[in-house]
Amino acid sequence: MKGVTILAIESSCDDTSAAVIRDGFVLSNLIANQDVHRSYGGVVPELASRAHQANIVPVIDQALKKAGVKPADIDAVAYTRGPGLLGSLLVGTSFAKGFAVAGGVPLIEVNHLEAHVMSHFINDESGRTNPEFPFLCLLVSGGHTQLMVMKSHYEMEVIGNTIDDAAGEAFDKCGKVMGLPYPAGPIIDKLAKEGDINAFRFSKPAVRGLNFSFSGLKTNFLYFLRDRLKENPDFIEENRNDLCASLQHTIVSILTGKLVKASLLTGINTIGIAGGVSANSGLREAVGAEARKRGWTLFIPAFSLTTDNAAMIGISGYYKYLKGDFSGHDVSPLARFDIK
Ligand code: KG4
Ligand code: ZN
Repeated sequence: MKGVTILAIESSCDDTSAAVIRDGFVLSNLIANQDVHRSYGGVVPELASRAHQANIVPVIDQALKKAGVKPADIDAVAYTRGPGLLGSLLVGTSFAKGFAVAGGVPLIEVNHLEAHVMSHFINDESGRTNPEFPFLCLLVSGGHTQLMVMKSHYEMEVIGNTIDDAAGEAFDKCGKVMGLPYPAGPIIDKLAKEGDINAFRFSKPAVRGLNFSFSGLKTNFLYFLRDRLKENPDFIEENRNDLCASLQHTIVSILTGKLVKASLLTGINTIGIAGGVSANSGLREAVGAEARKRGWTLFIPAFSLTTDNAAMIGISGYYKYLKGDFSGHDVSPLARFDIK
């Protein structure tokens, strides 16, 4: 019997991505990045929608070709309904609807945040195993920082959330202050490798429970640099690696501290990280060290599955397909889309 083949589309922010998933296995996962935002210090929504419009047909065409499937082989179309930039989401949603109508196949809406966590259930040629339930996952991206507990493929509970900025935003905004292009996270990661984590000390928030806060750190970093620059205009240039290492260390210890707390509070030792910031080498190392110390079964995603990608939308869509959870054509995208 032929498997279930899903075409997945992700267009919530500044990456246009398409993937083909068959029975939970990734056949293709293509991403078109948008370089137009680099010089603006952040994603420009209007430019993002236009770039999605230009990219979406070629990206889907390539995803189908790479997977070796024809449009007629697709059993359902999964797409990101939100959260994200509305203009960007509209491009993916509209394409998904058009494709579904043309092929006479069902449409499946996916929550982008759930999908980041669901990326741990993707199978590919690496032969990695999937987490068992309950599964505790730290989702750290440019727009979100959350602790989630998955009880099954269909039940996800948010047990911690940021009360202001996301961890990725902290990387990107502090990077901008140092004159780094957007997104600064990966650049800080690289420069931090040559720096001293103890060179500078930045404030850690006192947020109770499992919630996070990063706006205080951002302000602390900004004022710290402003004061040092008054004494030495070359301060950033002369200390860039140490600044990156100390900043990254602060963000990583905030994240790791809350993940440990969440594990102790819930008693869950099957742990994962997901989202763009989960590509960070300092975070991967720190979480790895905690796992060894505490006997966690740890799931670190492949780099290709950390930042936004359509394979994660495809795997979420696959499980929804198995349940017959389809969406109507009257569904519109949501800029804010909380997990129920
Ligand atoms: O998940 P993602 O691609 O998009 C959102 O859903 O937001 O995450 C993008 C974020 C950006 O803030 C980017 O700076 C950050 O992930 N990021 C990193 C690294 N790679 C990407 N942050 C720190 N270290 C990295 N290696
Ligand atoms: Zn994301």
